Amino acid sequence: MRLEFDLNGEHVTCEARDNQSLLDLLREGLWIKSVKKGCEQGECGACTVLLDGSPVTSCLVLSPQVEGRVVTTVEGLEADPVMVALREAFMEDGAVQCGFCTPGMLISSYALLRDNPEPSEDDVRTAIEGNICRCTGYVKIIEAVLDASRRLKA
Ligand code: FES
Ligand code: FES
Repeated sequence: MRLEFDLNGEHVTCEARDNQSLLDLLREGLWIKSVKKGCEQGECGACTVLLDGSPVTSCLVLSPQVEGRVVTTVEGLEADPVMVALREAFMEDGAVQCGFCTPGMLISSYALLRDNPEPSEDDVRTAIEGNICRCTGYVKIIEAVLDASRRLKA
């Protein structure tokens, strides 16, 4: 089927299969490789993107569902001050190891800080509870999100 939607600020027209996940459409059809394929069951959060501004696991969204909607990945937030602060904090605070979870983690953290610029540690834990990280033990990720919040306030 033919599909039209907004991807990272650009109007996209593409072909998609009825049963194709948004994850596969982004990675295979549109070459957006930041969106990672992990469990494909909505459990790991590696495929998290924003759909109309809200975080969703793109493996559980069928491509036809994004017709006329707005999809955002980390590529579309490169210059956004909230994402810049998060990216710098993740890098400087040691919140990235293998990096597989990082784009999804950044998207969930971005949605949190955009809506709640001064989150508590519990708020951060809740925001990233759907994102699994096998490397960091989460402590440095949580610290990085809180650090990004402080950087934005400064
Ligand atoms: S790949 Fe989508 S939640 Fe794991
Ligand atoms: S940094 Fe490796 S899974 Fe999170």
